[in-house]
Amino acid sequence: MTLPKEESSSGRNKYNLQVRFVSKLYRFGISLEKTLIDAFDSHIRKQNYQNRSEAIRDLIRNELVKKKWTEGGIVAGVIAMTYNHHKRELVSKMLDIQHDFQELVISTQHIHLTHHNCLEIIAAKGKAVKIEELASKLKALVGVKHVSLSISSTED
Ligand code: NI
Repeated sequence: MTLPKEESSSGRNKYNLQVRFVSKLYRFGISLEKTLIDAFDSHIRKQNYQNRSEAIRDLIRNELVKKKWTEGGIVAGVIAMTYNHHKRELVSKMLDIQHDFQELVISTQHIHLTHHNCLEIIAAKGKAVKIEELASKLKALVGVKHVSLSISSTED
């Protein structure tokens, strides 16, 4: 019996017909200069990664998200913005913009930070270029203090 490559090697024998697909993890080796791996280890320790695999997995995911971003694939985005809600017409302008992008916006959360300032978190799903456009339109409003945009993959 030939086992698929991704089959976990733990606890299997050729007489055990109930092959369980424990995991679909692949292993591969990477050759790197010592200075590079030392720098990488020190970097990932500061980022609280448990091991190199986790860190490399994240790097690969980030790279694939970037690729999707440039190729126009569907991504998930979070826009966090802080603003002064006393600024004239800011809230209604902000809502107008969100309605213009309603096919993108999944949900919003509003938090009153202080007497003047609010935090709004907008979850969006769609083409990265459209999510960036939404974020930049919100950023351009007078009274908006800060806008950050984070893009994630919608897939594994
Ligand atoms: Ni508020």
